[in-house]
Amino acid sequence: MDVAVAEILSFLTDHFGEDFQSYSKSLAEKRIAERAAQLSLTEASAYREFLRSAPAEPEFLARMLRVRFSTFFRDALQFELLGSVIIPAMLHDCKGLFRGWSAACASGEEAYSLAIILDEAMQVLEERVKVQIFATDIAADALDEARLARYRPDRLGGVTLKRLQGCFTPRKSEHQVVEKLRDMVTCSRYDLLDQRTYVPPESLFGGFDLVLCRNFLMYLDAPAYSMVFDKLFRALNPGGVLMLGKAETVPERYAPDLERIVDFGNLYRKKGARRG
Ligand SMILES: C[S@@+](CC[C@H](N)C(=O)[O-])C[C@H]1O[C@@H](n2cnc3c(N)ncnc32)[C@H](O)[C@@H]1O
Repeated sequence: MDVAVAEILSFLTDHFGEDFQSYSKSLAEKRIAERAAQLSLTEASAYREFLRSAPAEPEFLARMLRVRFSTFFRDALQFELLGSVIIPAMLHDCKGLFRGWSAACASGEEAYSLAIILDEAMQVLEERVKVQIFATDIAADALDEARLARYRPDRLGGVTLKRLQGCFTPRKSEHQVVEKLRDMVTCSRYDLLDQRTYVPPESLFGGFDLVLCRNFLMYLDAPAYSMVFDKLFRALNPGGVLMLGKAETVPERYAPDLERIVDFGNLYRKKGARRG
């Protein structure tokens, strides 16, 4: 890696007290080159000097490195499988409490997509179960948006008309997720790269039936990928389900303990008897 790029990541790590050195080096190089080009700087070393002198720049670059994009029902087929086949069976067995974790949730689209399909499955089964979804991210401003759960129409791409009418309330130019679904979701800041903890402190008491960690692992280098994957694996109850992003895979070491639920897609079940 370019020395200047390494120095930039080290600067950000010191500046924020958070790990910026575990993101994939190729991603970091690409994003830094993009940002330098926006500023008409041709060398990473020139951008490094700019970064040190411009007070708002560290935050700007941090946001570029921590890609924020998300949508509702991102990867619709997997959500369909989850909602119509996997979750109904899990709700039936879960003895009154279902716990999910949307790890690296961005502005909440993923966590509320999960709340919607859980609510729909409960209606079909005519069974009410207490649902706790922990939605965590490192970006405090993304979490503020997630707590508010208000989305402009251009951010509701994956939402059907039926769900738009049943699960959202129009608020001026935005749509807010209805209270019943918001109440299922607890948003909190959690750094998945923090090696001192395994799960968000708010969720300590008990494992998870379902863990979604999508489109975050793909931005990490190999050691960090393995460290975060270990957290996700430990957080899952036996029989619990892990949902990864399209470009993310299970490291070989965990393959004996995680079976792929269908032979396409990225849903895996942790082996072992379910609780309850
Ligand atoms: C591309 S978004 C993924 C959103 C959602 N999971 C999805 O698939 O649509 C990646 C998210 O990872 C978050 N992130 C980056 N570094 C993180 C870290 N160290 N700990 C927790 N979240 C992090 C970013 O803030 C961003 O919201």
